[in-house]
Formats: sequence, C-alpha cells, structure tokens
Amino acid sequence: MHVAHLSLTDFRSYASVELGLEPGVTAFVGPNGQGKTNLVEAIGYVATHSSHRVAADAPLVRQGAARAIVRCAVQRDDRRALVELEINPGRANRARLNRSAVSRPRDVIGLLRTVLFAPEDLSLIKGDPAERRRFLDELLVSRTPRFAGVRADYDRVLKQRGALLRTASQARRGTRSGRRAEGDTGFAAAGAGDVLSTLEVWDAHLARHGAELLRARLELIDELRPLVAGAYASLAPTSAPATLAYRSTLSTGQDGAEDESPGERGSSDAQTLSTDLGKTLEERLRERLLEVRSAEIERGVTLVGPHRDDLVLGLGELPARGYASHGESWSFALALRLAAYDLLRADGGDPVLILDDVFAELDTQRRRRLAEIVAPAEQVLITAAVDDDVPAELAGARFDVAEGSVTRVR
Ligand SMILES: Nc1ncnc2c1ncn2[C@@H]1O[C@H](COP(=O)(O)OP(=O)(O)O)[C@@H](O)[C@H]1O
Ligand SMILES: [Mg+2]
Repeated sequence: MHVAHLSLTDFRSYASVELGLEPGVTAFVGPNGQGKTNLVEAIGYVATHSSHRVAADAPLVRQGAARAIVRCAVQRDDRRALVELEINPGRANRARLNRSAVSRPRDVIGLLRTVLFAPEDLSLIKGDPAERRRFLDELLVSRTPRFAGVRADYDRVLKQRGALLRTASQARRGTRSGRRAEGDTGFAAAGAGDVLSTLEVWDAHLARHGAELLRARLELIDELRPLVAGAYASLAPTSAPATLAYRSTLSTGQDGAEDESPGERGSSDAQTLSTDLGKTLEERLRERLLEVRSAEIERGVTLVGPHRDDLVLGLGELPARGYASHGESWSFALALRLAAYDLLRADGGDPVLILDDVFAELDTQRRRRLAEIVAPAEQVLITAAVDDDVPAELAGARFDVAEGSVTRVR
C-alpha cells in the first residue's frame, strides 16, 4: 500500500498543507525545526491513532486551534480509501472513511499500516516496560484491528477496578485509624462485603480481557522471535544473539514492580503460565488476582495483568536494558521494527515505511544495511536534515521543508 495524498489542517505547525505522494522513496529534507517530522508523524497517527513522539494529543493541534484534521488517501492495489481523522484533545476523536462518518475512530484502523523508525525507538531498549508493551500492542492492533477493542475494554476495566480499589484502600485506612471521611463510600459505608463482591465482578472482566491480550502478545512474540534474531544478526553480525522473552505478572512472585532490572526475574511463555497446570490463562489470572488482593487493597492499584508485564530483550545471556552498547541498542531497535515490517508484509500488502531522522544516527554499516532492506518496499518516507543523510540507495522524490512550506524539488 502507499499514501497517495496527505492533507493536514491545523496539525502541529501546519495551518494547511496538501501533498501528493507516490510509491517508491520520498525524502523530506530541511534544517531542524522546520516541520519534517510533523508530516510523517501525521501519517503515523492515521495508522496507529497515536503519535510516536507524545502520549497526549494536545501538542498535535496547532497552537491556538481547537482541533486538527489529518486526511490520507491510501492506495492499496487498485482500491483507494480516503481516511480522515479529526483530533480533539480531551474529547473523543472522530473519523470518516470515504467522506462518511464511521461510528468509532478505531473502525478505520488497519486501512493504513505503517512501520515507523525514529530516534525515539532507542527507548524500546533503554526505556520503561510501557514502551515495549506499546510496541507489542500497536503491532497487534495493526495486524488484527479487533485488538483495538480488546485493549479499550481492558483499559476501561482497569480504570474502573482501580477506582474501586482506591475506595477500598481509603476505607480500610479510615477504618483502621478509627476515622471515617464524610460521604465515605468505602468499606464501612457500603459494607466491606459489597466492595468485595463488586471487585469479583471486575476481576472476572479483567481476567477475560486480560487473558485475551496476554495470549495474543505471547503468540506475537513467538512469531517475532526468529525475525528479530535474524534482523539483529544481519545488523550486528559480531554481537551476541538477540533474544525475546515475556515477563508476566501472572507468574507467582512477580507483582508488577517496574523498577526491577530485567533478567533478574524469570520469564514466561504461555506454557509455563498456564497449560502445564491445566489452567487457562483466564483462570490463572483470576487466581493471581485473589493472591494479590490484600496488597491491591492496601495500595489501591491493580498489581497483576498485562498492563504490568514486560517484553524482556536480551543479548546472549545479558539483558539488553542496562547492558547493551549504544550501537547494539540501535541495532536491536531497528531489528524490532524490521521484524514488525516482515510480519505486516507477510499478512498481505507492504506497510508504508517511515524513517524519521534515523540515518544520521547510524554508522556506515548499519546505514547501508538498513537502506538495502527497505529499498524494495512499496513506499518509503524519509526525513533528513541534509541530503547526505539520505543513502544513495534510496534516491527518489524529494521535498524541501523550510519555514512551514513543503516544496517538491525532484
Ligand atoms: N502544536 C503546535 N503548534 C504550532 N507549532 C508546533 C506545534 N507542535 C510543534 N510545532 C512546531 O513544529 C516545529 C517542529 O517541527 P518538526 O517537524 O519536529 O521539525 P523537524 O523538521 O526538525 O522534524 C517546531 O518549530 C515547533 O515549534
Ligand atoms: Mg524531525
């Protein structure tokens, strides 16, 4: 697939811009701060409904504007779809497909699929587990858009269960100190029994959605493992092999503390998580929720579930996080993205490849290797500060980006 047209209204620095794009390689070149990343960020947003740079949507809307609109014409074989997103910070986004409203924005996920490489990817290796969970879940949703719904259900249950735990936690503290706040809705006021039975209802929901997400992640990691190892070996042939494992809060003794260094705790697969005990992941998750219940009420947070898990990256026997060199970290990050690209491509249709300012960060060998791998893709969009940062293998169309205007020069 490829993006044939991009249209932005009040997105980031752009009041309005219209860009015709073609298959093959297109480079956006210009000095820093001119709006190159803003363009590709918009395309990535249409694919994933999130930015690779910021967690919240507010910065995506042009200063002083109320909402942003991103529109992409996506060409897949001989079919064209016009996907439009209206970004409303603090309120629900709206989406249109071929100029007709759809009921939920997530209904247009999957029409455009992208794989985006950016300097921010280093946080996949060096950052918190949340970065790696996001990598897994975004890929999951790209491959199987239905998982956008599973994630949304899980997040909703998590939020509601969290509110209940906080109430229970406050009530317990209040009861203990012999005081009770005015309008207390917790243990004593509502009755501890009521809180516990409501909690059980939420446990069931959490376990159902959580198990579905967990199983999908585990299966995804099994598919990624050989692809990541292969891509890593070709980018860093002299390094120890890249490994992937899943660390789950479902395993006893793992209560989702995020500050532990990886590798110190056991990792899991679906087998050890459930089946050898003859239990489903859902049953196991419910069981774990009971095990940690008192700690959860104490702390007022849900301690087990996929929102506390991690994708553990290793190099040989060592965890990558905290041990990998800068070059190894870059190779690992690229290998994760390349593996994602392979999987999406195998599902049918080349995703659009976006390389935001990555070549300047790489040494000659990694640069060349990456250029060779991405060159055959149906569409590659590159941003670079100077022409020299675009490898010769990737010569193609070119836009100059300066002071908010985007001009085709080749
Ligand atoms: N919401 C916004 N409203 C107005 N300008 C913005 C907004 N967000 C970012 N910018 C501006 O966009 C520019 C950065 O654009 P970017 O695409 O990241 O540059 P680069 O060409 O280096 O990739 C900065 O000048 C920044 O001030
Ligand atoms: Mg940039």
